[in-house]
Amino acid sequence: MQRLNWGLIGGGEGSQIGFVHRAGAEIDRLFELRAGAFDVNPAKSVEFGNSLGLDPTRVQGTWRDLLLSEKDRPDRLDLVTVATPNATHFEISKAFLEAGFNVFCEKPLTTTLDEARRLEVLANERGLICAVNFGYSGYPMVRHMRSLVSQGVLGAIRLVKAEFAAGFLADSSFDDNPRVRWRFDPEQAGNSLVMADMGCHAMHLVTFVTGQKVRSLSADLATGVEGRGLEDDALVAFRTTEGAIGRLWVSGLATGRTHGLTLQIFGEQGGLSWEQEQPEQLNFTPMGKASRILERGMDGISKEAAAANRITVGHPEGMVLAFANLYRDIASEIRARCTRSRSADPVLFPDVSDGRHMVEVVCAAVESSRNAGAWQSLE
Ligand SMILES: NC(=O)c1ccc[n+]([C@@H]2O[C@H](COP(=O)([O-])OP(=O)(O)OC[C@H]3O[C@@H](n4cnc5c(N)ncnc54)[C@H](O)[C@@H]3O)[C@@H](O)[C@H]2O)c1
Repeated sequence: MQRLNWGLIGGGEGSQIGFVHRAGAEIDRLFELRAGAFDVNPAKSVEFGNSLGLDPTRVQGTWRDLLLSEKDRPDRLDLVTVATPNATHFEISKAFLEAGFNVFCEKPLTTTLDEARRLEVLANERGLICAVNFGYSGYPMVRHMRSLVSQGVLGAIRLVKAEFAAGFLADSSFDDNPRVRWRFDPEQAGNSLVMADMGCHAMHLVTFVTGQKVRSLSADLATGVEGRGLEDDALVAFRTTEGAIGRLWVSGLATGRTHGLTLQIFGEQGGLSWEQEQPEQLNFTPMGKASRILERGMDGISKEAAAANRITVGHPEGMVLAFANLYRDIASEIRARCTRSRSADPVLFPDVSDGRHMVEVVCAAVESSRNAGAWQSLE
């Protein structure tokens, strides 16, 4: 099968997420990196693209040149990934969607709700994919959790507790590092730091696993290190569309913690919990019975988790393969759309409506916090 043509914008040398995209997209040999504009500095972009061994005619200094050079090629890109700072996502994604390209945008999809709605309308009108990289939804045991909840193993969901609290903002001496600085700058990051950077991941996991959306929320966004323009800690109470109680804590100030993403779901019959730093296991606590640890790769795993499972049980997989699962889902969907058929594999990548819903959550949290925690209703 011929590999799909893939382009990358951002993700240049030294970037945090560029390598994970390149590794995740190419590992299954479904996509091949053909073109890109990798760095905000045009010379560095060209240098980096050349260092990857790409055809020099398809390495560009800017995303606008990339668009111009790709749009009329017979072998044009099948998918363009946008891995640049948040405030650029809308303009770049819009331009590529308007030119008929499928897009895989980093989170948050945009920095305003109006922009997110416009991308949703645009992608739907054009029949194009506009996926959003909530990459944790690619982990097999997250997919297993989703499957168990949808099979009713926990009964009706009553309580959801998500946490994404790490220590990466605890040392303010890093604030001048160019890879950190843009995250505090509303011009580049948008209206939120930790809610947009981390909270949307945790909330997406809540919606992905429960199959429910966020209906309303009340938030307290706070800045613990003086002088930062955006929040570095957030506490959110929320309710889901089916009435479950939700609790979310997001922070960059949890000193010494490395990642700190966890999800706990409690229903009428039992609970499940998952930690990103131990992603191969799920803790299952059925009511009145012994607790169990469910392992990735074990017998009896759901078909969604089995499809995402690559390596023999006991050999850790990890983030690159979680991203690869999203790329594989997107490749299946691109091929299905080309042949006007339905993908035979489970297609679970977060789409533009998930991306829009998470922008809605971030904007509602900012609004609530500005109004002393007043509850906000979502669409
Ligand atoms: N899904 C995830 O797990 C995850 C993890 C980290 C970051 N992200 C998201 O990925 C995006 C990038 O984050 P990062 O941590 O890699 O940032 P970074 O600052 O480490 O890297 C950004 C890269 O984009 C390049 N760039 C900036 N503006 C550009 C432009 N106009 N054109 C082309 N290249 C440009 C920079 O030169 C750099 O190479 C952000 O939106 C962030 O929220 C997602």
